[in-house]
Amino acid sequence: MSTVDKATVVIIDHSQGISIKERLKKCVEVTVMGSTDNPDIGLTLAERFQPAIIILNVDLPGGKGPSLAEALALECPMSSLILLSNSDSKKVLHLALEVGAKEVITLPVDDDKLIRSVQKVVQGHWKRQALYSVQKNQKPQFKTITVFSTKGGVGKTTVALNLALAIREITGKRVVAVDLDLLSGNLSLMAGVSWKHSIKDLVDDINTLDKELIDSYCAEHPSGLKILSAPLHPDFVGFVQPEHVQKLLSLMSSVFNYVVVDAPTYLHDTVVPALEAADDIIVVTTLDLASIRNLKQCIDLLARLSMRTKARIVVNRMGYSGGLKVKDVEEEIGMAVECIIPNQEKAAIDAVNMGKPLFTSARNSQVARRFAELAAKVLAEEDRHGLAGVPVKLSGSIRSLLPKSARQQPFSSIPRL
Ligand SMILES: Nc1ncnc2c1ncn2[C@@H]1O[C@H](COP(=O)(O)OP(=O)(O)O)[C@@H](O)[C@H]1O
Ligand SMILES: [Mg+2]
Repeated sequence: MSTVDKATVVIIDHSQGISIKERLKKCVEVTVMGSTDNPDIGLTLAERFQPAIIILNVDLPGGKGPSLAEALALECPMSSLILLSNSDSKKVLHLALEVGAKEVITLPVDDDKLIRSVQKVVQGHWKRQALYSVQKNQKPQFKTITVFSTKGGVGKTTVALNLALAIREITGKRVVAVDLDLLSGNLSLMAGVSWKHSIKDLVDDINTLDKELIDSYCAEHPSGLKILSAPLHPDFVGFVQPEHVQKLLSLMSSVFNYVVVDAPTYLHDTVVPALEAADDIIVVTTLDLASIRNLKQCIDLLARLSMRTKARIVVNRMGYSGGLKVKDVEEEIGMAVECIIPNQEKAAIDAVNMGKPLFTSARNSQVARRFAELAAKVLAEEDRHGLAGVPVKLSGSIRSLLPKSARQQPFSSIPRL
């Protein structure tokens, strides 16, 4: 875990024995910015660093603890306060309520309990921070986010599903995930939902469809996320034409606040409307040579479609063998990586096998946090594109961007980049 990922802590404690700072060395989620037994220095440290967490012993000599707790609550409203005290009296609990403390720890406390309490507060802190940064900038939003990669197995579906779940949780708005991987879509399977209808049914009815009925074509995840499934049989693929995709995404975006599209790996005309309709295009990669070569081709393709400014790069499975560094990738493509999702093999396998997405099944994992952060980024940012955010209309089809040899081939044999 890099320092950037850690929650900052300031400690104001006078108790004897092994210091809280020393004991928190075992807690990888935090980094201590300062530790003091002096109330004035403590307040200054807290004001200076505005840490994620302030740990305050309210039994400070001279009865200064309670007034310092009040001052900290006023001066550092974004910090989560943990109070330590030798007593668990009503007075302490009353103070905790008054200053909005997140946790009260009665001393003495063993290392495990101390660390567990701090971890709990850290999790709450990240969640509140994601929510706050969203709400700060939030105006009613309607956004389409297309998750894209021309290489299979990089985690495109994983990102699309978990991002959609995170957006749903953060906003509580209407969110739909659309499986546009018409050949081998497994979004509903990964979400663990059963479905009666698919995109094929929606396309069949597209000309007579009432917007209000769109939900009945979707499966529903317990979180409230709606999912439009891919056709059960790949034979139906040919039915879905680019104009269908354009129309259905336009319909979807009028009745859902957020539409997250899991785009197919193959390059086909149906992909273009999904890229056109997107406010943000999330390009997923892993850190191996083949994926990076692919990523570069994706970015070049988006540049040729005048859509490069919509791209956000997400590195998935960080730490998995592959060897390349994020910095190398950024240099290679000339763009910053916006989100790094760690490799979490066992949880990912369990997630697929049990149909329980990482964001909900591995709630407290780094992976889930990264999805929440990615969602917050997608949501919080003001329209990055200004007028350029108006979907770019393409004159030609995507086939014109493909090598000539590939243009004439039947759909199923269109090459993966
Ligand atoms: N962060 C991760 N850590 C570990 N395994 C992952 C991670 N993301 C995805 N996977 C696994 O990689 C495989 C491919 O993921 P998937 O989302 O289906 O990729 P794609 O849609 O790009 O083909 C799946 O088995 C998935 O569980
Ligand atoms: Mg997939």
